[in-house]
Amino acid sequence: MNYFFGVIGYPAKHSKSPWIHNHFLKQNGNEGIYRIFETPEEELPELISALKTVKVDGFNVTVPYKEKIVDYLDELDPYAELIGAVNTVHVKNGKWIGYNTDGKGYVRSVKEAFPNKDITKMKALIIGAGGAARGIYRALVEESLPSVDLCNRTLERGRGILQLNNSVTKSNLLSLQEAEVQLGQYDLIVQTTSVGMSPNSSEQILSLQNVNQQAIVSDIVYKPFETSLLKDAKQKGANILHGHGMLIYQAALAHEIWTSQTIQAEELLEKFKHQLKGEELC
Ligand code: ATR
Repeated sequence: MNYFFGVIGYPAKHSKSPWIHNHFLKQNGNEGIYRIFETPEEELPELISALKTVKVDGFNVTVPYKEKIVDYLDELDPYAELIGAVNTVHVKNGKWIGYNTDGKGYVRSVKEAFPNKDITKMKALIIGAGGAARGIYRALVEESLPSVDLCNRTLERGRGILQLNNSVTKSNLLSLQEAEVQLGQYDLIVQTTSVGMSPNSSEQILSLQNVNQQAIVSDIVYKPFETSLLKDAKQKGANILHGHGMLIYQAALAHEIWTSQTIQAEELLEKFKHQLKGEELC
């Protein structure tokens, strides 16, 4: 099989996706290429027409097209439809089918990093209420956790996300200040905003003064490799989970959709960690 994959976005030229997917192609003994289609918005319709005429097997969609791409699809996976955003398109028998693997990628990164901890028994807190929070909220709810609370600077924005709950999971909406006070009750904390992202790496969205030492504190920001929040969590004796895992596992899930082959992502996770740390030293 000779695959043709790619990623659509703007900007996208520094995307790590070609590196990740080329590794997955090689791992499973497949031939293929993965191209970056960096396209400004006014050229998107042209790019879509071009992709419809060539034999593309699938592509990723990144900022700012995760919602816009829906207009060009033939079908939408129910999870992507609920989230209202697509990060993976599979071209199957000529049909464009949209998926979203971001939130599920996060959940898989937690399970792989902490195989002895049972995620389904955890009380979770999501920090932030953007697109990433939306996907992670729904993915955690689908795991039937006892509770998944959400805190955000703007409370109103969080309300819409809690409506994605269709299970036994309980949810409360909190301000950042309320979350700081109640932090000790959570087993899993996930920071989903861009606060702390390079070059503003000294920023931290909330204080971890009350964090439980048994808790897992995770940040989906992977630049810097270890954010201020994670350094703080480590210093307070909590478990930490770096953001590069979500990136690798959302890609692994996309690759599995495209090829129907299983991906072992652990080796790549380690390589990616070294690459990110190396870039920080440059
Ligand atoms: P994405 O879709 O990539 O997740 P987004 O939609 O821009 O990103 O959402 C950004 C999130 O980061 C929001 O939760 C935002 O809080 P508000 O809803 O109050 O705007 C949060 N955020 C961004 N900058 C922040 C800051 N300096 N302090 C606190 N929260 C911040």
